[in-house]
Formats: sequence, C-alpha cells, structure tokens
Amino acid sequence: MGDERLREKAAPIPIEDIKGNLAHWAKVALAMFGALEEHKGIGLAGPQVGIAQRIFITNVDGDEPRVFINPSVIETSQATAKAEEGCLSIPRVWADVERPKSVKMQAWNEKGRSFTIEATGLLARVLLHEYDHLEGVLFVDRLPALKRERIVEKFAKRTKAKTENESAG
Ligand code: NI
Repeated sequence: MGDERLREKAAPIPIEDIKGNLAHWAKVALAMFGALEEHKGIGLAGPQVGIAQRIFITNVDGDEPRVFINPSVIETSQATAKAEEGCLSIPRVWADVERPKSVKMQAWNEKGRSFTIEATGLLARVLLHEYDHLEGVLFVDRLPALKRERIVEKFAKRTKAKTENESAG
C-alpha cells in the first residue's frame, strides 16, 4: 500500500495475446504461484507483483489452484457476508470486509481456455478481493471511512518508521 501501481486499472489482455503466448502465461503463472507460496497467501493479482495486466491467481483450501486472465464478474449475490481479510500488499493488517456471499465469474486460464466459475464463501471472497486489485481497489477501500483512515494512518506511520530505521543504518 502506498505504491501507485496498486491504484491503477490493469490493462486487458487481448484473447489472441493469451492464446498466442501460452508459454509466456505459463511462466507468469508459475512465478506468481511461487510468490504466493513464499508469502503463504491464497490469492495474488498482477498489479501486486508489477504486472499491470488483468491476471490473478488463487490457491484456496478445498479448491484447485486457478489462473484468471481477463476475468469478468457475471453476477454477484444480493446477500452479503462479513469476514476478516488481509492482503500481501498491506502486511499485518486485517479487518472485516463486507462482500457479496457468492459470485459468478468468467475468465481464461493460462492454457487459453475460457471457463466460468460459481463460488461462495471464502473462494468468492478471494475472487472478489483479487478482482478488486485489477480495478486498483484495495480491501481497506471497502471499510467504513473511520476505520479505513485509522488503518491507512497507522500503516503510513509504520512505513515511515521503517524507512527512517533503514536510512539510519
Ligand atoms: Ni490483496
């Protein structure tokens, strides 16, 4: 958080660039799964690792690891649920976020195949969280204003203290 690249809308990837560069996307996905595993996350989006394109991956317990290229949200439930979220781009911050309980999404995978997924519970939450990253949205944006301000302030102070420590040696 604080890096402008997390705030930009990620660029769509033309279908021919997915299907015509499968080796590239396999490599990107592999690198992203490596980073996800290293940081013990359950989802990671391109903009978090310097890829300004519409790609994210998930690895949620009880589901297979998945790659989403050019995802689109087809439908979300009216019913919402609140649960705690964190983000690899906002270390050591967790807060309850309200989101639709279920989502239907379409995307292409790293093999260039289109697929549709209907998810509920944790998987739905992860899909919507990662999709937000492609729109330049962070989970703290979905918190009540006061709570968000408190978190952003605390985070900025921590980052500043860390930078001062580092420059002090
Ligand atoms: Ni995140």
